[in-house]
Amino acid sequence: MTTDIRKDALNAYLSKGIHDVKGWCVPQLWQTIWPVYKAIGDGPVAEIGVFEGKFLIGLCKTFGTGPDNKAAAIDLFDMQEFNLDGAGVGKLEVVRNNLDGHGIGRDNVTYVKADSLTLRTREADQFVAENGLCKFFSVDGCHEVVHTVNDIEFAMKVTANDGLIAVDDYANPNWPGVQEAVARMYILRDFPFIPLAVTCNKLLLCSYSYHAKYLELIHSYIRTNHPSTHMKFVTRFGYRTLTVQPDFRTWSDLQ
Ligand SMILES: C[S@@+](CC[C@H](N)C(=O)[O-])C[C@H]1O[C@@H](n2cnc3c(N)ncnc32)[C@H](O)[C@@H]1O
Repeated sequence: MTTDIRKDALNAYLSKGIHDVKGWCVPQLWQTIWPVYKAIGDGPVAEIGVFEGKFLIGLCKTFGTGPDNKAAAIDLFDMQEFNLDGAGVGKLEVVRNNLDGHGIGRDNVTYVKADSLTLRTREADQFVAENGLCKFFSVDGCHEVVHTVNDIEFAMKVTANDGLIAVDDYANPNWPGVQEAVARMYILRDFPFIPLAVTCNKLLLCSYSYHAKYLELIHSYIRTNHPSTHMKFVTRFGYRTLTVQPDFRTWSDLQ
């Protein structure tokens, strides 16, 4: 699929379809994801904590999910006794129907029913053998410190060196565990994936190898195509990062 057809389908979802799916993510988030996608192209996507699929559908539409490029939906689903902070209940049939309804067939997605705390190195190796390395991994399960650290470390093991990792609720005062987890990680030691940008309630991480390149890509794409978005370079944990604050009252198509 050419980038133009992909872009049109994605713009259709972001301007309309996304509003029919329950969950927590806003279309303006793609102002930061899209320029990186254009540089790295298609590949597997995965999410821990899919709820009803709102973000996952957008990721599948961005990164060309299909029979040879499967997405992974990881959630407790009916094992909600391990949902320790009660932030949404992932419902397998609802997610499947929502993905179906947006053209992402069942055969193109691997549904993994798991408590994310059971995802360790062995599971990461198995995940990569089955799915390949992810181009985008979304961490949006339990917001407690222990889960957030574990889930980010799992994401780093299964994400390609040119891929992105998103950590949801980084800026949400109702879920301080996410910020605390990230602070503990980056104050205590170095990781291959480092903070890149904060936008639309998510912290985006990318590999140290691509960090300077992606900062420039994102900054230049947004400055050219979404001039009403406010951007500021700020230092987080010693790394140069961007804070990206779109104007949520308006939608302008991705370019
Ligand atoms: C905030 S919702 C996710 C929102 C979703 N990403 C969206 O786009 O709207 C949190 C999800 O995490 C799942 N969850 C909670 N604790 C979990 C755990 N320990 N392991 C895996 N999934 C978990 C819940 O079932 C729920 O579906």
